[in-house]
Amino acid sequence: MESLMQQWQGETVIIQHDKPTGVWIFIAVYSTLLGPAAGGTRMKRYPDVREALRDAMRLAKGMAYKYAVPGMPWGGGKAVMALPDDFDPALRPGLLRRYGKLVHQLGGLFYTGPDMGTCSPDMDVIAETGAPYIFACTPEAGGSGSSGPYTALGVFTGILAACEHAFGDVSLHGRRVLVQGTGSVGGPLIEHLRGAGAEVLFSDVDEAAVRYYRDDVGLTFVSSEEMYGTECDIFSPCAVGGILNKNTVPELRCKAVVGGANNQLEEVDDAERLRRREILYAPDFVVNVGGAMAILGMETLGWERDHAESQVSANVRQALQRVFEVADEKDISTEAAAELIADERLKTAS
Ligand code: PHE
Repeated sequence: MESLMQQWQGETVIIQHDKPTGVWIFIAVYSTLLGPAAGGTRMKRYPDVREALRDAMRLAKGMAYKYAVPGMPWGGGKAVMALPDDFDPALRPGLLRRYGKLVHQLGGLFYTGPDMGTCSPDMDVIAETGAPYIFACTPEAGGSGSSGPYTALGVFTGILAACEHAFGDVSLHGRRVLVQGTGSVGGPLIEHLRGAGAEVLFSDVDEAAVRYYRDDVGLTFVSSEEMYGTECDIFSPCAVGGILNKNTVPELRCKAVVGGANNQLEEVDDAERLRRREILYAPDFVVNVGGAMAILGMETLGWERDHAESQVSANVRQALQRVFEVADEKDISTEAAAELIADERLKTAS
């Protein structure tokens, strides 16, 4: 853990070991240069505690870059709750309230919302002790609800922009899109894609989700083993991170990767691997800003829903077009171009 902290370029990590549950809580604050840190709270099992800390650190950096590209006045942060294997769900509300208290004690260093493994009703419980630092509570509790549909809208806009760049045509008619993960982002994304006339394939590890999308909706299911090698126009990862790596990139048979998952590249070299294979990669932090942008806009700037949606679409389209331009101009990967744009913004603020 010491070496993780030494190598990380971020500002602060708050660590709590929740005694009643054995859950490790890490709140990583990467940068507060542009504003207070804000990011989701992720809850899942990790192979070990070190992995949980590493995830929080990488995700917090992703948030900082995510806000920097469109120039939002927020800093990057993320919280991770690492659950023990035998976690008893009955202990969840108590855990969330103790976590809320911790966020409250930080006094505005870190604001949070939902992420993988947490949802708006969880935010309601966290807000009992954590308000006013909790975003995306349910409408019943005075919040604006799930951030997933807004993230999905941004990813959908990103897919259109990528098609325009790769094929010279924004139309999705007859285009094949493979969506990995049908959760809070992948689900609404599939609706957008079907509405636009795309042929949608999906992959998921959750059996109930597979049954629903395959049997009720009638989409083609692709197993995890076949996923990377499946021929498609767009591959859209909307689940876990690290899925683009030295093993999977050579297998890909898509023209572009545009998805909502955070930290899709396992390591920096993977961006070059994609470029060498002439696969257009839309950097995750550029296209998945929609959830955070809409929720923060609605809850701190008084945006109406419609306005939030048009902001998300306009921002993602513009940002991605700029990333593609810079990458072409400088002959660098799209990931390097996006980092350059974000770093410039962070530099001017420091
Ligand atoms: N899960 C969101 C993301 O990764 C985090 C978030 C949601 C932040 C809602 C603020 C408000 O971008």
